Amino acid sequence: MITERINQDERFETLSFSYHAVTVVYRARVSLQIKACDKGDSVGKSLEETTIPQTVWPAAYPASEKLIDDSSRIFGGRKIKVLEIGSGTGLFGLTAAALGHKVVVTDTNEVSLALLAMHPQVAPRRLRWGNDDDAAAILEEFDGPFDAIIGCDVFYFSASLRAGMKTVSRLLRPGGSFLLASAVRSDEIEDEIERIPETFSAEFVVTTKEDIQCRGGPYPGQVHTKNQFRHVLWMELQRR
Ligand SMILES: C[S@@+](CC[C@H](N)C(=O)[O-])C[C@H]1O[C@@H](n2cnc3c(N)ncnc32)[C@H](O)[C@@H]1O
Repeated sequence: MITERINQDERFETLSFSYHAVTVVYRARVSLQIKACDKGDSVGKSLEETTIPQTVWPAAYPASEKLIDDSSRIFGGRKIKVLEIGSGTGLFGLTAAALGHKVVVTDTNEVSLALLAMHPQVAPRRLRWGNDDDAAAILEEFDGPFDAIIGCDVFYFSASLRAGMKTVSRLLRPGGSFLLASAVRSDEIEDEIERIPETFSAEFVVTTKEDIQCRGGPYPGQVHTKNQFRHVLWMELQRR
């Protein structure tokens, strides 16, 4: 299934696939088709140097399972307005949409946005973390702040963490939840993520923090093995 090893460093590796689409079925409760591009097709061509957004990253599977398993606790039986940051292929956001929520999926990368546009059940928009114009355009188009923001495997550098949290804070309504799943790969980012509760305590209170596991893997298309990251940390933060 893996056709080419594109890049590998001590933090993570990027691989390309020979398939065009992966079907993910979560214990018969949600069935989604995640589209990932072959390098040969029209979207894939511009991906020669940007393969990150066409990979389903390792936090996405357990995060999506968690969303399904804890749906009634997290959403309280309500159908709400959700925004995903750093969607990539969009598994997490598509899972939220499959659960009946109105979902805006976002990314900075045009290839991700092209992939996300293949799914009519979500609204893809460009959102660069820390960019006020992007955030303002989304707030205007979708009638103000969101009830929940979700993100998986998005913060693996300190700078992106700070910019991302700024954007989350701008787009989330007071009392709304930010659901963050992070595959922890290095001491540096583990420290940063562990410090989120104190670093952002003026704006957020952490309500849940736990390690989550992939159960029943490997999943279709899963390329990351446990030794490429330490664990997946799940955090729920409530906007003050
Ligand atoms: C490791 S991938 C994770 C993708 C997806 N959430 C998943 O878990 O499969 C990180 C994603 O964040 C996006 N991203 C990185 N920096 C960004 C930024 N400054 N603003 C918006 N999106 C960004 C990338 O384009 C990429 O799609």
